[in-house]
Amino acid sequence: MENMDEILNIVTVGHVDHGKSTVIGRLLADANALPEGKLEMVRENCRRNSKPFEYAFLLDALKNEQAQGITIDTARCFFKSDKRNYIIIDAPGHIEFLKNMVTGASRAEAALLVIDASRGVEENTRRHGYFLSMLGIRQVSVLVNKMDLVGFSERVFTDIRSEYAEFLKKIKIHPESFIPVSGFEGDNVAIRSGRMPWYDGPTVLEQMDAFRTVPEPERMPMRLPVQGVYKFTENNDSRRIIAGTMESGSVRAGDAIVFYPSGKKTHVKSLEVFSAPEPECFTAGQAAGFTMTEQIFVRRGEIACLQSEQPPCVGVRLRANLFWLGKQPLSSGRTYFFKCGTAKTEVRLERIERIVDASSLGHIERGYVDKNEVAECILTLESPIAFDIAGGVEATGRFVIVDDYEIAGGGIITEALEEYDFNTRNIRWSGDAMTRSERAKYTGSTGLVVWMTGLSGAGKTTIAQETERRLLEAGVRAYVLDGDKLRRGLNSDLGFSDADRTENIRRAANVANMFRDAGLVTIVTLISPFEESRENARRIIGKDFMEVYVKADVKTCIQRDPKQLYKKALDGTIKSFTGIDSAYEEPKNPDLVIDTERWQEEECAESLFSAIMTRLGNGESVL
Ligand code: ADX
Repeated sequence: MENMDEILNIVTVGHVDHGKSTVIGRLLADANALPEGKLEMVRENCRRNSKPFEYAFLLDALKNEQAQGITIDTARCFFKSDKRNYIIIDAPGHIEFLKNMVTGASRAEAALLVIDASRGVEENTRRHGYFLSMLGIRQVSVLVNKMDLVGFSERVFTDIRSEYAEFLKKIKIHPESFIPVSGFEGDNVAIRSGRMPWYDGPTVLEQMDAFRTVPEPERMPMRLPVQGVYKFTENNDSRRIIAGTMESGSVRAGDAIVFYPSGKKTHVKSLEVFSAPEPECFTAGQAAGFTMTEQIFVRRGEIACLQSEQPPCVGVRLRANLFWLGKQPLSSGRTYFFKCGTAKTEVRLERIERIVDASSLGHIERGYVDKNEVAECILTLESPIAFDIAGGVEATGRFVIVDDYEIAGGGIITEALEEYDFNTRNIRWSGDAMTRSERAKYTGSTGLVVWMTGLSGAGKTTIAQETERRLLEAGVRAYVLDGDKLRRGLNSDLGFSDADRTENIRRAANVANMFRDAGLVTIVTLISPFEESRENARRIIGKDFMEVYVKADVKTCIQRDPKQLYKKALDGTIKSFTGIDSAYEEPKNPDLVIDTERWQEEECAESLFSAIMTRLGNGESVL
């Protein structure tokens, strides 16, 4: 179907020597898209300068010219086929373009990737594939060019096709077609070649016309990121108005809606426009406000959607392609802000999967992302948000990262990672009142868990209690979560089998995590004899975790034996006693070691106290 208003953006990628410009020049000429006399003019110029004519020269000749719907600027070429309008963008090497694509400021719906048949699949060709996958372009056609140089050989073509298709599959690109072409001679560009009867797929022009445009935002599911909730209406009654910009879809009074990430449901009661009659519906692009039948509590950052339509993703882990602009590199040790739609939350870089230098498209292997680099990475958010995947609703599928009040990067979300496991990660439940950092504004601290491990009788409780007192005196809210105390109450159903100890530690870690959320320095004293369960505690708690090894060997502890338990263990009255007939695995890499065999009680408490103060940012570094 013909639609002359429709514009499709296509990027061309490929090495210059592989004949990209020749293919495009030939396309313009053979599709009769050139201004009258242009081709003859360029031919004439070549003759006069005694150089052979090339279709690639057409692009240069057309630069900055505006005639008959063709304009070429440095990187873009506009042209019309019988079906629709095209903007052909010459992609790699243009940092600006890459930045715009990755940040979602501009988009291309399809790509033509040019390979030189006489050279086959090279490192460069693979880079171009990665480049497309970074941009999230789904519709790709691979043009195997210069078929004239390989005698229009079917074998050469099929070998390249199978090798490259296999590579593309790995990076999740499934090309629409592989087309054998000769830009130089014009085979299969706009005119079907008579020299490759074995090929029955589309020509380049047919393939372009077959690419699909991305649906208009109005035809996508409704997304209204909530900008604000206002408690007044025209009639001065108590209804709340939910307000924001309609990013996609449409909504009417009576529609059943649902907010994400909270999942709260209600119906639209009325559509509201400031001092104007109620409209019949709001559609994509409009500033919108509506009241609800039930007065549910929703907040800025949620997305209002129709219950009957495809919901957005909700989560805290996502795969993204991002373009980094920050002065400081993006690194995993730091916290940034992540903004998507109207939602804003803290974010951390969990892992870098791949970094690409925007100008050379070369790969870089390292643990941080520098300015002007594109990276595919996994991000972990502090609290869940609703979002879409690139290729769906645009506004809710892209994000920016803010570092120190400045936009430091932007990107598109390419995948929602598995549902968040609330048992092993430190994040806010969607039902929580506020995030840790919000709470810290009131309590003055984001809290810390100090995990003290060591044998029974090593001195954990004594040191912990003394440190707690010092912290409180210094104005730091602290609390000792003691193993014996936990075992009397919360964990009174547990004994000392390996499984029970593991469960003991899991529960303690979860409680400590909540105390920490509340802004307390929580000092946990548990033998916690197993490396694995201590690591699990670290995972539950996340970054504000400090492992302290209270060191005293079994011999010393037997001598001390404050509770006379070693005596009983040695004479067999109690079984599975740590250090006697149950193992203690020493921490391999603790944040602090307190040697109670060598140091006095005072010194031990002092060293722990100052390590904690340093960690909180209130003291000299001792760690
Ligand atoms: S852990 O195994 O989960 O790390 P936890 O610190 O809670 O142990 O409890 C250790 C305390 O329980 C000891 O200080 C001691 O008073 C008491 N206890 C009783 N039986 C045992 C045992 N078999 N092994 C270790 N501690 C025991």
